[in-house]
Amino acid sequence: MNPTWCMAFPTGYETGTYLALDMGGTNLRVCEIVLTDEKSEFDIIQSKYRMPEELKSGTSEELWEYIADCLQQFIESHHAGQKLESLPLGFTFSYPATQDYIDHGVLQRWTKGFDIDGVEGKNVVPMFEAAIAKRGAPIKLTALINDTTGTLIASAYTDTKMKIGCIFGTGCNAAYMENCGSIPKLAHMNLPPDTPMAINCEWGAFDNEHKVLPRTPYDIIIDKDSPRPGQQAFEKMIAGLYLGELFRLVLVDLHDNKEVHIFEGQNIDKLRKAYTLDSSFLSLVEEDPFENLSETGDLFQNKLGITTTHPELELIRRLAELIGTRAARLSSCGVAAISKKKGYETCHVGADGSVFNKYPHFKQRGAQALREILDWPAKKSSKEEDPIEILAAEDGSGVGAALIAALTLKRVKEGNM
Ligand code: GLC
Repeated sequence: MNPTWCMAFPTGYETGTYLALDMGGTNLRVCEIVLTDEKSEFDIIQSKYRMPEELKSGTSEELWEYIADCLQQFIESHHAGQKLESLPLGFTFSYPATQDYIDHGVLQRWTKGFDIDGVEGKNVVPMFEAAIAKRGAPIKLTALINDTTGTLIASAYTDTKMKIGCIFGTGCNAAYMENCGSIPKLAHMNLPPDTPMAINCEWGAFDNEHKVLPRTPYDIIIDKDSPRPGQQAFEKMIAGLYLGELFRLVLVDLHDNKEVHIFEGQNIDKLRKAYTLDSSFLSLVEEDPFENLSETGDLFQNKLGITTTHPELELIRRLAELIGTRAARLSSCGVAAISKKKGYETCHVGADGSVFNKYPHFKQRGAQALREILDWPAKKSSKEEDPIEILAAEDGSGVGAALIAALTLKRVKEGNM
């Protein structure tokens, strides 16, 4: 659990122009956000750049140079020929970081398959600033932000019932607002006990000791073959990066088990390649009408060169459902845990990420699990809201990052830390 130095919810009356940079797992996104005088209104322009796969296991220098190039390109294409005042930037860096203040962050460890030498254990802000300074770009890093905190703040901007921000995407994590008096890590700072502080839970690392959750042999292989074995135990059961790989490992194991007779006599070399299936493959399987599963049959044929029988297709579908359902239900355990800890009987939870937004039935399965865990009475009608609802969030790494930069500048101006 990491204190983030994001110390207030927005009022809706924040104003100004901000840059936001999001270094996600798949894309790099740069935005310029204008928070307008109108309450909770904003304008946004943005560009997306693909994060080259090689960068994830390249050198630290390559990473920062690439990021700085994208930022510079953004400024040049949107402000060509203009003399700019330095723009405040919110940098969404969605990895676990120890922060002593908001424009500081020591990377604890890479997650989500990243493996770049020379960054873990170091403050990433000076590395970023050095690459920017080299280009003379008019940018001032104002806040280093986790995507979950951005999601929490962006969602609370338009809906004051939002109390938790979640990401269910390549990785999986949540943030909520705590009182400083309840944060042992900050006890030495003697902050007023009722001062708010957003906490990045880093719940992906829950149960790294493997004392709570039962693991299948496939979970064990995923962990063992990952760049950081022993870490992100919870995330490896839930997050988009791993769902397709879990599915693949089960199918290969069933094929190799001589008693099961699946894909018998077929060449499954393509299926043997690690990480060859991503969670969008599983989404397609779960979307296919159960009556004939012909799309699934085509997928196996075209992508993997495997011809399937109808009983095999039914097994494939059932397996996808199991993996998708486990992920959704475990995710809700995290939401329930925060709600219980804070005593929230009713609230909204803002969620973002590819799994939440695109994976079939994820939302309904998650909601059903919350109902069971928190033991709510049955709804009187399907229109009735659940006491705690997980809803689609506002754009955390765009408008959320801008708001956190705005809140930080306001705090500095008022002379508070
Ligand atoms: C991983 C990261 C975490 C991030 C999450 C969602 O769990 O460690 O910081 O919030 O992915 O992107």
